[in-house]
Amino acid sequence: MYRTHTCGELRLSHVGQTVTLSGWIQRRRDFGGMSFLDLRDRYGLTQLAFNEGIDAQMLIAARAVNREFVVQAIGTVVERENKNPQMPTGEVEIRVTAFHVLNAAKTPPFTIEAETDGGEELRMKYRYLDIRRAPVREKLLLRNRINMMVRTYLNDLGFADVETPFLIKSTPEGARDFVVPSRVHHGQFYALPQSPQTFKQLLMVAGMDRYYQIVRCFRDEDLRADRQPEFTQIDCEMAFAEQEDILQTFEGLLKHVIQEVHGQTIGSIPRMTYDDAMRLYGNDKPDIRFDMTFVEMNALVAGSSFPVFDHAELVVGIKVAGCAPYTRKQLDALTDYVKRPQLGMSGLIWMKVDEQGQATSSVNKFFDEPALKNWVDAFDAQAGDLVLVLAGGANKTRKALSELRMHLAETLGLRKPDVFAPLWVLDFPLLEWGEEAGRWFAMHHPFTSPKPEDIPLIDQDPGAVRANAYDLVLNGNEIGGGSIRIHDRALQQRMFDLLGFSKEEALAQFGFLMNAFEYGAPPHGGIAFGFDRLVALMGGDEVIRDYIAFPKNNAGRDVMIDAPSQINPTQLTELSLGITPEKPA
Ligand code: AMO
Repeated sequence: MYRTHTCGELRLSHVGQTVTLSGWIQRRRDFGGMSFLDLRDRYGLTQLAFNEGIDAQMLIAARAVNREFVVQAIGTVVERENKNPQMPTGEVEIRVTAFHVLNAAKTPPFTIEAETDGGEELRMKYRYLDIRRAPVREKLLLRNRINMMVRTYLNDLGFADVETPFLIKSTPEGARDFVVPSRVHHGQFYALPQSPQTFKQLLMVAGMDRYYQIVRCFRDEDLRADRQPEFTQIDCEMAFAEQEDILQTFEGLLKHVIQEVHGQTIGSIPRMTYDDAMRLYGNDKPDIRFDMTFVEMNALVAGSSFPVFDHAELVVGIKVAGCAPYTRKQLDALTDYVKRPQLGMSGLIWMKVDEQGQATSSVNKFFDEPALKNWVDAFDAQAGDLVLVLAGGANKTRKALSELRMHLAETLGLRKPDVFAPLWVLDFPLLEWGEEAGRWFAMHHPFTSPKPEDIPLIDQDPGAVRANAYDLVLNGNEIGGGSIRIHDRALQQRMFDLLGFSKEEALAQFGFLMNAFEYGAPPHGGIAFGFDRLVALMGGDEVIRDYIAFPKNNAGRDVMIDAPSQINPTQLTELSLGITPEKPA
């Protein structure tokens, strides 16, 4: 038997017992005639003691092991003289009577400790060593816990886990597909699913009623901290459900997870329309843990002789409480922040209210005291507050102010990872105009239902049609999105018309779904959570990488297995991919 106990479980109550442990060497300390080894496994650390009357051979054996050797030790649990209150097993140690090296190890390329000296790329290359580190291991274990929680919660509500295929058909909508060439069908390709969207709808037509799946999805898009090319969704669908049923059910799921993981009870989740989110936060996933809501100032500054304002489509500001003491240098840094090419603003205007309640601004020349008094009132600014104002094209200015708001919140420590402020964003527009393509695109996906009352607008003003679509936002992150679906063939056809599909194209791409709608499709709707994002936020992070066992790096590579990689010419020929592979450099 390799072990009787794990390295995390022995306590004073085990004193006197003979135990066998197996694990990795974390640390070795030698003193005179004794040595101590810290033995690690997934469950914790236990100290192995080679002291008091230790056999000389055994001491030699203990001193022959280095970090990360895999060993087995048999011995007696004894109370420690120097207890370590930091360690759960810190009151005991094992007086070793037999000791075996199960496997030697090279010196690891970085230290396997909570704080490591290994850089990102090195840790990714040796991910199996990185996962030995407690913080990474704990993230994966948290992921497992939340996975089980979600399954139990949904199963208890009658949702059934049904698997859907990974080799499917490429479609032009959405992100880019990863494609898989077919060997049997020359020149033809499967695509990996961006989500099981159409399959879960077919399961509703099939009468499965309540479906879920914790499922891998694949999207060939640019990577960010919260985006991986393969990621996991908690994908759900319900038949005979209205938007309200879905909001209630899945709000319950999120609240359950926060309660179980953090012991925090979240009340009813607030709701905001997309329009309000854009107006008040310049963003469809606002972080509502802190204020700094937008105040539009066009009316307030109309007719000023300040050219920047006079020519601007939107003049909008935020109040940063208590920041009037910001120095010139700090304000210059904020100005540089909004002038970065990514935001591209021409400048930043500020107003400060000093301790006496006196307002001054960077545009004093154009706005006298009574004019600034109006600003103070509009922002409800108090002594000590700072107001920051941007002006320009509406979309660009909203985006820039939204980024500035998040930047300030980060700097001021307002983005507290242990505070959870979920929000539903509702009533998304059905369509958005693609300037380059010169056509409408589905804002969510082409299966989303317009609001019934907006259907008449489809012909006159497609951009004004609102969808029965909703996002679940947590602390400024989109953790889920879904909609009520179209379940009527004619309306689905109308939608494809709007998106510029010919009848033939629509039939070729989505005929299977439209045909299914003719065989008794129930009204249905659903949602998908970004599982990686949810788990990361529960772990206090916004970067999802460490919550995935084997993630891709920023360039979409797996540096451990070295993928993507070239394949051999025989494979290429077999797959009818007449490409001559480049010779490796
Ligand atoms: P959507 O495209 O909004 O909806 O995706 C649902 C959720 O998945 C997460 N997500 C991602 N997480 C990590 N990396 C990515 N590249 C990535 N892309 C998306 C987000 C997002 O909210 N079929 C619909 C759902 C539905 O309508 O039911 C869909 O896929 O948290």
